[in-house]
Amino acid sequence: MLTSAPAFETRRLSKNYLQGRIVVEALAGIDLTVTQGEFMVLAGSSGSGKSTLLHLLGGLDRPDCGEVLFAGKDLAACSESERTFIRRSRIGFVFQSFNLVPVLSAYENVEYGLWLDGMAKRERRQRVEEALHSVGLADRMHHRPDHLSGGQRQRVALARALIHQPVAVLADEPTASLDSRTGAAIVQLLLDINASRGTTFVFATHDPEIIARAPRAVRMADGRIVDDVRRGAL
Ligand SMILES: Nc1ncnc2c1ncn2[C@@H]1O[C@H](COP(=O)(O)OP(=O)(O)OP(=O)(O)O)[C@@H](O)[C@H]1O
Ligand SMILES: [Mg+2]
Repeated sequence: MLTSAPAFETRRLSKNYLQGRIVVEALAGIDLTVTQGEFMVLAGSSGSGKSTLLHLLGGLDRPDCGEVLFAGKDLAACSESERTFIRRSRIGFVFQSFNLVPVLSAYENVEYGLWLDGMAKRERRQRVEEALHSVGLADRMHHRPDHLSGGQRQRVALARALIHQPVAVLADEPTASLDSRTGAAIVQLLLDINASRGTTFVFATHDPEIIARAPRAVRMADGRIVDDVRRGAL
């Protein structure tokens, strides 16, 4: 379900970090276009710049040089409130460590973003139930994270990331803390969501099997793109 419009475009994107007196070039001029509806894996050894790139794509951090366009809009040129809206509603984030609120149930973790929007309770309930159902958690809605398995926690995090029906989901090693079978089920779920809804995915991983199966695999080394492979549909 690829459309021609880009979800993300970066131009000469650079980011340095200061480690003591040493300047580390985390991103060294990245030019990348991710089309809406694409499922792209970001590969590369530890320290190659994957997380830094995801943070910049999602407007969680600012580049030193170059630009990030989201749906054609330069993030740096947006007002702070526009950027917040994009981060909260147009882009979903999923992390390795789930980042769920431990005292809230699965339902409440997913509901929270809609509550912040001021959405009425009845509509919230419909949306949250639908989201948890779509990730296979209809029967675990009222469990707290510490009563859920790792795979179930990651499904809650995914439902939360999808609750605003974002254009794109940025996932930073979402299967790294899961066993391989549970991880494979999460990847399949992401691929299904990509196919059925056209949600764009940018997915950083070290898992060679996921990299080998991905419709597009971009490999980074030392802050640069060194390989960009597209495959046919799975
Ligand atoms: N907050 C920071 N302060 C200083 N240096 C940083 C910071 N974040 C990242 N770096 C450095 O930037 C480079 C890229 O790091 P990044 O986290 O993007 O790599 P990565 O590909 O995500 O690695 P991993 O696979 O281990 O998650 C590394 O050399 C790292 O040490
Ligand atoms: Mg990383």
